[in-house]
Amino acid sequence: MDSSSLEGKVALVTGAARGLGAAIAHEVAAAGARVVVTDLDEGRGRATAEDLGAMFLQQDVTREEDWSHVMARTVEAFGGLDVVVNNAGIETASLMVDCDLADFRRVMAVNADGCFLGTKWAMRVMRPGGAAGRGGAVVNLSSVAGLVGVAGLGAYCAAKGAVRLLTKSAAIESARLGYGVRVNSLHPAVIKTDMGEAVVRSLVDLGLAADVAGAEALMLQMHPMGYGRPEDVAAAVRYLAAGSGRWINGAELVLDGGLTAG
Ligand SMILES: NC(=O)c1ccc[n+]([C@@H]2O[C@H](COP(=O)([O-])OP(=O)(O)OC[C@H]3O[C@@H](n4cnc5c(N)ncnc54)[C@H](O)[C@@H]3O)[C@@H](O)[C@H]2O)c1
Repeated sequence: MDSSSLEGKVALVTGAARGLGAAIAHEVAAAGARVVVTDLDEGRGRATAEDLGAMFLQQDVTREEDWSHVMARTVEAFGGLDVVVNNAGIETASLMVDCDLADFRRVMAVNADGCFLGTKWAMRVMRPGGAAGRGGAVVNLSSVAGLVGVAGLGAYCAAKGAVRLLTKSAAIESARLGYGVRVNSLHPAVIKTDMGEAVVRSLVDLGLAADVAGAEALMLQMHPMGYGRPEDVAAAVRYLAAGSGRWINGAELVLDGGLTAG
């Protein structure tokens, strides 16, 4: 079989109503997987799922009871689960001296707790003896902000750094215990989704750039190959999730056109 095929697989993508999650859901569906789209945003989530012939389940990734429900419904509907993409995330831009503890905790809750719960439930369900029980792949959306610090994004960096090492711990544990579940993280630089646009605008709000044109110039100076596209991330997810990724476990795949290479 084609090593990039996901034929016969079942894939769940969180935060897939829009942005990178929607592109990932399209890609894994195109690769042959049956897809479950989850998101807090019911209206947009249902529309994206309908486009793909996917199933939509409303989910708040910070709530463990939602994970339990989503896993049970997926296995019941499709008879298995092979790929979980922990993509749902939020950002908050604030200088360290002004960052509210409540904002810090909110970003940690969605990005770090959400990814922890998603990885935990994916491994539980996909390991031998679990409700799906045939192994699989987990792909966690970290960021270049999980590898290097970014001014104005302290809370986001803290959460994405947590995702990086949570991923590696889960990967080595799963391999040692013979679960057959590979766990990897992705580290994209800026992509102009709703979140990507907000990050650029925040440079102005925080006084790190004089205006939007200045913020764009600063960003493009940082990105030696320009901004990425949602399809770049989606292709990487497919590569890691399919047979092509069969020996990749605990890896951090950086998608930044060289931003962190220098
Ligand atoms: N866009 C970028 O530049 C970029 C770069 C690196 C990493 N990332 C990461 O990629 C992921 C997707 O980013 P995006 O740009 O598509 O963001 P986005 O803001 O466009 O979309 C995020 C989606 O997550 C959903 N969501 C938010 N909180 C949720 C919750 N508690 N439960 C379930 N769903 C929730 C939103 O409703 C939305 O549909 C995020 O984890 C983000 O941190 C994005």
